[in-house]
Amino acid sequence: MRILILGGTRFLGRAVAQLAVRQGHDVTCAARGVSGVVPTGARFVPVDRDDPDALVSLGGEGFDAVVDVTRQVSHARHALAALADHVGHWSFVSTISVYADNTTPGQTATDAPVLAPAPPDVDGPVGADHRWYGECKVSIERLVRERMGVARSFVCRAGLIVGAEDPSDRFPYWVRRLAAGGEVLAPGRPTDRVQFVDVADLAAWLLHAAEARLAGTYDAVGPAMSRADLLAGVAAGLGVADPVLTWVDQEFLLSRDVREWSGERALPLWVRLPEGGGLMDRDARPALEAGLAVRPLSDTVRATASWMTAHPAAVRQGGLDPVDEAAVLREWQAVRNG
Ligand SMILES: NC(=O)c1ccc[n+]([C@@H]2O[C@H](COP(=O)([O-])OP(=O)(O)OC[C@H]3O[C@@H](n4cnc5c(N)ncnc54)[C@H](OP(=O)(O)O)[C@@H]3O)[C@@H](O)[C@H]2O)c1
Repeated sequence: MRILILGGTRFLGRAVAQLAVRQGHDVTCAARGVSGVVPTGARFVPVDRDDPDALVSLGGEGFDAVVDVTRQVSHARHALAALADHVGHWSFVSTISVYADNTTPGQTATDAPVLAPAPPDVDGPVGADHRWYGECKVSIERLVRERMGVARSFVCRAGLIVGAEDPSDRFPYWVRRLAAGGEVLAPGRPTDRVQFVDVADLAAWLLHAAEARLAGTYDAVGPAMSRADLLAGVAAGLGVADPVLTWVDQEFLLSRDVREWSGERALPLWVRLPEGGGLMDRDARPALEAGLAVRPLSDTVRATASWMTAHPAAVRQGGLDPVDEAAVLREWQAVRNG
């Protein structure tokens, strides 16, 4: 295939480009080159999509498939205007943040309600909390379906993406924490659900979708698992035997200002229940039936750990600081014993 990746300089886009090169495809990546470099073997075309005409010259080349990861509505609109008539299949990487209901477990992409599109004066996510992120992705999904037609569009709503080159502080937190050993603060209940998708599995599925001309709207998530299985699996992937986990109640954590999901004082892959009960417990069956192949957790852990070791400066050190974790554990033991 002649494949055009709009992105390709970091994490998922780079993984798609890397695998496409390895599979023997003719790969072009269009980006500014600010976030990183494209993989060896891919052609890099420097463009700034803030310029509405940035992709016009690529239109004449013709591509079998496009993969776009943008969050900016105007970037998608201009890309579609320049390329849609010269492209066979369009994959848009969207997000489960498009959904309106984060509480109900087991929802399926085809019938779950989504947010309203972004207002006309909003072009992309705003501020540290990425306000309007989901709404912008909804707007872009619509543009893709309208301009490419439903039969040539693959809308792939990713859950948490994990694995090598992950620029976030989420999955890497648990790899680092379990590798460090000692008493580990495990949030909530062992049975709470967690869900994610390996970046390499997602990259492979996007390429499969392009080759098979897969159309439609899917959640890109692996099967949900319990948090106990996640933490045991991370430990096993690292070769850590018998990790010492102390499960701490949600309400106690919240009362000690331990935060959810991501960032300072946060425990990643942990969200308040029941409010966030739908976020990491979506129906993965449609994706699995449509070709998403999920590797063993231990492979994901090892790929993440190897990358973290090789690129320590690239790994964000977010999450609950070890000193704060120890203090919360001490207080929790005091309450339980007291
Ligand atoms: N990470 C997660 O857990 C998660 C979860 C759900 C969904 N998603 C979605 O998954 C996708 C992840 O994509 P990704 O990992 O490849 O990273 P990304 O951060 O979305 O990458 C953005 C890409 O677009 C390029 N870009 C940004 N501004 C540009 C501009 N003005 N002109 C041209 N290119 C521009 C960047 O390259 P340059 O900066 O070099 O130009 C980069 O390659 C996104 O769609 C995200 O919304 C992520």
